[in-house]
Amino acid sequence: MRINYKRELEDAARTMILVHKPNTLIRLILRMIVRKVRVEHAGILLYEKSRDCFIVTITRGQIGSKIPAGLVRLDKHSPIIRFFNDSNNFPLLERGALLLSKINAILSDRDFFSGKEELEKLIIAIKFQMKSFDTVVCVPAYYRDNLLGILMLGEKVNKKTFKREELDFFNALANDVAMALRNAFLFEDLQLEIERNRKLFLETTMALSAAIDAKDHYTRGHTMRVTEYSLAMCRYIIADSSKNLDAKFLDDLHVASLLHDVGKIGVPEAILCKKGELTDEERKKINEHCVIGAMILEPIKALDEVILGVKYHHERFDGSGYPEGLKGEAIPYIASIISVADSYDAMTTDRPYRGAFTKDQAMVEIERCAGTQFNPYLVRVLAALYKRGEL
Ligand SMILES: [Fe+2]
Repeated sequence: MRINYKRELEDAARTMILVHKPNTLIRLILRMIVRKVRVEHAGILLYEKSRDCFIVTITRGQIGSKIPAGLVRLDKHSPIIRFFNDSNNFPLLERGALLLSKINAILSDRDFFSGKEELEKLIIAIKFQMKSFDTVVCVPAYYRDNLLGILMLGEKVNKKTFKREELDFFNALANDVAMALRNAFLFEDLQLEIERNRKLFLETTMALSAAIDAKDHYTRGHTMRVTEYSLAMCRYIIADSSKNLDAKFLDDLHVASLLHDVGKIGVPEAILCKKGELTDEERKKINEHCVIGAMILEPIKALDEVILGVKYHHERFDGSGYPEGLKGEAIPYIASIISVADSYDAMTTDRPYRGAFTKDQAMVEIERCAGTQFNPYLVRVLAALYKRGEL
């Protein structure tokens, strides 16, 4: 049966748009080559940036005849790689492919290598490599001038030679592979860059939160513990799936927990660290830290949700909190979580005005305040974590 290569290529192109993972796409392409052109086996050597070498990544074909994936690793000094990395060798290609039959032909031509001993040595070494891979056709995949991969094909099942249109077909597929790889590399770089920026942002935020803790001696380590408790609660809630919280919420909660007391920068240390009882005026000043924190973060547009957590983490479920006296579900959820985590840590650590509660005592107190100070569901979440020994 004659194959309509143009249609096959169009199908491959359509698949490429749908498949974003290059390995999946390459697997599809190799399967197509094996099935449609009926070659015994097809494999691909792919460039791996981290190891700076080419590795047989994916193979297709009958068991026993295919090249074992992962076993073959070639660096840039390897004959096949050297050959395809040098454009002076391109005249030896047939329709963009290096054929074992062509190698055999030029090696038996006495005059071909006169004055070109280096090339002769290279070609002999390539012949040896291709034979060891049981490969009769190598098709390079380039993006711009960079060699990204080499398709390696075994013989046709019917042992006939490859036709022109088949070689063109392989060449077009190799280009598809190169494009897919290039896109994947770009995507990977972008992901790494995003991850690096995210890490940098979190580390900067942590440094800032440590600076806040340092200002308020009694709360040393407070921010990190609140963050740990908040995140544990959030993960529990996500697993409990009673609320629709996503990864973005978890990220926002992480940052909001780290920054929940950032507004204390604007409260004098003499008040923050005062040992005796606070006057009404001093209490008012401390309470302002929520609003000051929100004002500090306000210019950063991406922190909208975070700001809600910072601003409202001292609201109470019954509406008697500050700064706005929000009640029940009107309190942003992110703030309600921080409120429980913050209070639990405050109770279990020494404060200027009292010693620490035991964890047991703190849990009793928090459960007593379910529905008044705290969102009752979140108290149940904290209690569940406590029972599991995760606090
Ligand atoms: Fe606070």
